[in-house]
Order: sequence, then C-alpha cells, then structure tokens
Amino acid sequence: MLFDTRPKVRRADLFDFEEEFGRLSGFVGDSLTRLIVVRGGLRRTGKTSLILTTLNELGVPYVFVDVREVIRSRRGGLYEVLSRALSEFLRRYSPYKALLSSFIKMLSGVRGGVRVHGFEVSLNWGGKDRPLLTELFREFDEVSAGVGVRLVIVIDEAQRLGGSLGVEVWSAVAHAYDFLGNIKFIISGSEMGVLNSIFSNPESPLFGRAYARLLPRG
Ligand SMILES: Nc1ncnc2c1ncn2[C@@H]1O[C@H](COP(=O)(O)OP(=O)(O)OP(=O)(O)O)[C@@H](O)[C@H]1O
Ligand SMILES: [Mg+2]
Repeated sequence: MLFDTRPKVRRADLFDFEEEFGRLSGFVGDSLTRLIVVRGGLRRTGKTSLILTTLNELGVPYVFVDVREVIRSRRGGLYEVLSRALSEFLRRYSPYKALLSSFIKMLSGVRGGVRVHGFEVSLNWGGKDRPLLTELFREFDEVSAGVGVRLVIVIDEAQRLGGSLGVEVWSAVAHAYDFLGNIKFIISGSEMGVLNSIFSNPESPLFGRAYARLLPRG
C-alpha cells in the first residue's frame, strides 16, 4: 500500500509528535490522572494515531471504542460496538496468558449474559438483566487490580454520543471516575463545543470532573 490512511499505531510511523507523545505518556502513567481528553477542532490531526501509538508503546492494556461504529443510536448499537471492542482487546492480549485468562474469567462471570467463545465476546443487551456499563466497569476495575494493571478505556469520536445513550455512558464514566481507581479514560473527539458540554454543562453526568487535556497540532 502506497498511502495508508489508517491511524498510526507505532511510534516509528508517527511524525512531529514528540511533545504530545511525552505529555500523553505522562498522563497515562500518572495514577492521579483519571480522565484525559484529546481533542482537536480539525479533523485528521492525528488524535487517534497519537492515542493508539502511545498506548501500544507504553504497553498499557486498553479497550478502544470508536463511537462512529455505533450505527444505530440505540443501546443495541452501543453493545455491539462494545462486544467488538472487547473481542479485539482479548485478541490483542492473547500472548499474555495471565492477563487474558483473568479477563476471560471475569467476562464469563458477569451477571446478565456476556458470552465468550475463544476471543469473541458478545454482550447480551436485550433482556432486562443485561449487564450494565457501571457493572462492567466495576468488574474491569477489580480484575485490573488483581492482575496489577491500570486499564485504559478509550472512547473515540465521543462527540457522537448524545441523547439518552450519552447520558448512560457518561454516567457510567462519572461513576468509574469517582469510585474505580484502576481504570482511566481517554475521551477523544473533533467537535470542541460538544466535547466541552460533556464537562461544563451542569446537566452532564461528568460535570465538574477534572481532566487533563491535549490538543494535537492545536
Ligand atoms: N503525526 C503523524 N505522523 C504520521 N501520520 C499522521 C500523523 N498525524 C496524522 N497522521 C495520518 O493522518 C491521518 C489522520 O490521522 P488520525 O486518524 O490519527 O487523525 P484523527 O485526528 O483521529 O482524525 P479524525 O478526526 O478523522 O478522527 C492518518 O492517515 C494518519 O496516519
Ligand atoms: Mg480519529
């Protein structure tokens, strides 16, 4: 391929991001920083590349959720994307047997139907006993503490999460921020105004939470 338009995932392929790479690495490594916002007014400024490259280079376990994949703005769409993100997560850590088996065991034990076949995770979202996001985050937190890692959950294109789905996701993130010390979040997106409203709107579940911010090529 002559010209690859995908986000970069290796440092050798990432240009002119020394400072951003250093700052994001610092935030990810700092146990007091629980929420990181990577944003840009413009598209294609390298936000996703910076995040993926930094996490890969640091070797920090992460779950990457791209909200653009939530085609139907309904809960089912979100759960499908989460299922895919978790499957990808398991596949990525397949060489790390201890970490992998702990996460598989945890996911298989979540109340309300999480099925794991090999590396394929599927979250059942239809029934009233569907796993709640807050519950999933709590399990992630516990298993991360057990394995001795801090798990990073990336929510990319966050500006697309609005409406009642947004409230559900941001409430769960706020709960995790307040109570769960072993997971941290990177929230990324393009539209500054919308992203701001997640933090500065008193109606928003994440209102008033402190976050570290990064603006590639800002
Ligand atoms: N610093 C960089 N070094 C090398 N390639 C880069 C860099 N920044 C961006 N690119 C390239 O530019 C394109 C856009 O990058 P990326 O998808 O990471 O940006 P983005 O800000 O997340 O874009 P979007 O707003 O569409 O989500 C990709 O092809 C990526 O490989
Ligand atoms: Mg992007």
